[in-house]
Amino acid sequence: MFSQQSQTQTQTQGQSQSQSQTQPMTPKHVVLVQGASGQIGFPVVAQLLRQTNRDYLVRAGVIDPNSEKARKLVDLGAHVVLMDSNRPETLAEALRGVSKLLIIPPRLETNTHIATTIIDAAKLVGTVKHIVLISVLGAESETTFFAKQFRPIEKHLETGGIAWTHLRCSFFMDNFWYYADTIRRTGTLPLPLRDGRIPMVSVRDDGEVAGLILSGRTRENPFNRVYELTGPESLRGDDIARVISQVTGNQVRFQSISFEEHKQLLKREAVKKWLIRAMLDLYSMINAGQISDRVTGDVERVLGRRPITFGKFIKHNINAFSASPSSTTTPMTGTTSPITSTGMPRTTIL
Ligand SMILES: NC(=O)c1ccc[n+]([C@@H]2O[C@H](COP(=O)([O-])OP(=O)(O)OC[C@H]3O[C@@H](n4cnc5c(N)ncnc54)[C@H](OP(=O)(O)O)[C@@H]3O)[C@@H](O)[C@H]2O)c1
Repeated sequence: MFSQQSQTQTQTQGQSQSQSQTQPMTPKHVVLVQGASGQIGFPVVAQLLRQTNRDYLVRAGVIDPNSEKARKLVDLGAHVVLMDSNRPETLAEALRGVSKLLIIPPRLETNTHIATTIIDAAKLVGTVKHIVLISVLGAESETTFFAKQFRPIEKHLETGGIAWTHLRCSFFMDNFWYYADTIRRTGTLPLPLRDGRIPMVSVRDDGEVAGLILSGRTRENPFNRVYELTGPESLRGDDIARVISQVTGNQVRFQSISFEEHKQLLKREAVKKWLIRAMLDLYSMINAGQISDRVTGDVERVLGRRPITFGKFIKHNINAFSASPSSTTTPMTGTTSPITSTGMPRTTIL
């Protein structure tokens, strides 16, 4: 049962009539999604609210409960709570009574510390029985920048005495929002790719897998298991441009650029230095073919349907990628503003 303080926080954010009807006061399970206002967190909360019954209370942990994103979560029917790893007292409060927890390490250089701090707080609370972690494809290599960030988190979790599930996500299709403007304006897709292929996955699929696992409705036992979440195909740079051309009807040409050119491009977009380094590291791994053949069936095994293709992702967001936006096509979210396939307004990428 959630605390008085959590109730108060939620209500001050405008608890609606429908929210109080759908959220039980004495649930068997309290599921907490940390990073609920992020790219992955939002579809997880949506999936949980769709899949779970009155036995579940869905708590959405955010660092700014007054943000527009937090309000959207309240509108969905989630109980929004303050949860900031830099303020330990908020962790204890958000975790009170929680039995299942999703940790989404933020896109920050310090994400290893942030995630391990949250794991330690979950251990202290004593009620958490299962922690699902968003990780990266290839974490086990411990060689790339991202693998070095995530594998220590995985290890910390594996030795913590709580059942765990690692969701190692491939490169997000949603990263292509970053290139949408260039594609529309210039008809080119400049990437530091050679022959490597990317088994891209949609953030929506990642979120739905996490949501289903947390809802306890998967066919197989997900405890102490690693899932590798990829899309249904592995694409080269020219394949990616071809799909965008086919779906939008505008000619888009893949342009293989040097790492230095890509670095300058990211700098112009004010991408942080560490993230530029990490991205170039990732592209080196892709060019070396290290993840090219890693299309897995894990998304389909959990969700019981094929993962979203890149073509479908572009189609759902066609107005962002098309030089002559179609007035008849409705993006997945039903609006023409820059919205991710998860339904959240886009702020950052990568
Ligand atoms: N891009 C890719 O291709 C890719 C592929 C595989 C894995 N990943 C990894 O997947 C992870 C999640 O990605 P994402 O795009 O969902 O990230 P995201 O949108 O940045 O979400 C992270 C969430 O954590 C919250 N947060 C930030 N600092 C926090 C703190 N100190 N304590 C508690 N919560 C905090 C953020 O809140 P605010 O929204 O309020 O800032 C945000 O909601 C990242 O670590 C990323 O590296 C990315």
